[in-house]
Amino acid sequence: MNIPDSLENANRNNPEAKGMALIQIAGLKVVFSTRSEKIRAVDTVDLTINEGDTLGLIGESGCGKTVMGMAMMGLLPTNADISGIIRYAGKDLLTAPESMMQKMRGREIAMISQNSANTLNPVMKVGDQIAEPLLIHHLYSADEAKKEVIRLLGALGFEDPVQAAGRYPHEFSGGMRERVLIALALICNPRVIIADEPTSGLDAEVKIEILHLIKEKVTGNRTLFLITHDLGTASFLCTRLVVMYAGEIVETGPTKEVLSRPFHPYTKGLLASLPSAGLNTIPGTSPSPSSLPAGCRFSERCIAAMERCRKEHPPMKEVGDNRQVRCFLYD
Ligand SMILES: Nc1ncnc2c1ncn2[C@@H]1O[C@H](COP(=O)(O)OP(=O)(O)OP(=O)(O)O)[C@@H](O)[C@H]1O
Ligand SMILES: [Mg+2]
Repeated sequence: MNIPDSLENANRNNPEAKGMALIQIAGLKVVFSTRSEKIRAVDTVDLTINEGDTLGLIGESGCGKTVMGMAMMGLLPTNADISGIIRYAGKDLLTAPESMMQKMRGREIAMISQNSANTLNPVMKVGDQIAEPLLIHHLYSADEAKKEVIRLLGALGFEDPVQAAGRYPHEFSGGMRERVLIALALICNPRVIIADEPTSGLDAEVKIEILHLIKEKVTGNRTLFLITHDLGTASFLCTRLVVMYAGEIVETGPTKEVLSRPFHPYTKGLLASLPSAGLNTIPGTSPSPSSLPAGCRFSERCIAAMERCRKEHPPMKEVGDNRQVRCFLYD
């Protein structure tokens, strides 16, 4: 297996490794330069993901969730200026050579991308697409890879996996295509899966099927970093939540506690906007990432905002066991 030493040392099959820090993100900033402006998409994010964690990153559209995931995969476009640290199993990914990132992608950390239509090649049979990472990483021969693909498609609910492997993406329904994407992410048995809105665009019934499939087949010993704007999805799959607003983390904690006792006014607003809570959406919009306010980024929309909130930027604060919040109300 062609994995660099530093990654191979990462206790892949060591049950005692569960709970140890696997991904450490510190001071992560991503700034996009366009012709006219600088877009601060991710701003000074600190986050530790432990081996075996199921962590949900939630927040509204444009807050920087996908950019976080792409930064972890080393897949940001060239107009992105990235600083800080992203460490995987002790190795800093931001300074790692592209050759090492290629060995890592799919094999150590795999991503189920937000836009499934762009992920799959329309003119290649899905079986061949799923087998490709096994061949790129030299994990199996072509024959073995074929068998492994069929085994995995069967495990992911395809009644006739041989027939499914011989089809093209357009021949599948949305739910089946999502299963193919999950197969593509799982095929090299990675330690970490980043799932970016894995059920967006699916109808309610199919969404539930896919969520159960992710729970059964993706989690377990694997580490899941789920990116979603949907609190229901995050609470079903994740034991810990990270709430993001305008490029920064504003609240973290165990899922049950965050949902039953949210601290940040934004998290409270998200909960109130759920259909079960009466669809009370938060008035206003989040600030543009190209002109962020000096004070609290949520202050313009916050019913509890004080004078200080508009002037000073609140730091992250520990508030009880495993809970953190970025809000002056807890000073
Ligand atoms: N290549 C790019 N160039 C310039 N700006 C970008 C680029 N990619 C992302 N952005 C900006 O970065 C910010 C964060 O984008 P991101 O895709 O991470 O949002 P998101 O939280 O995933 O939203 P959604 O829920 O809609 O998927 C947005 O303002 C977006 O316009
Ligand atoms: Mg996104």
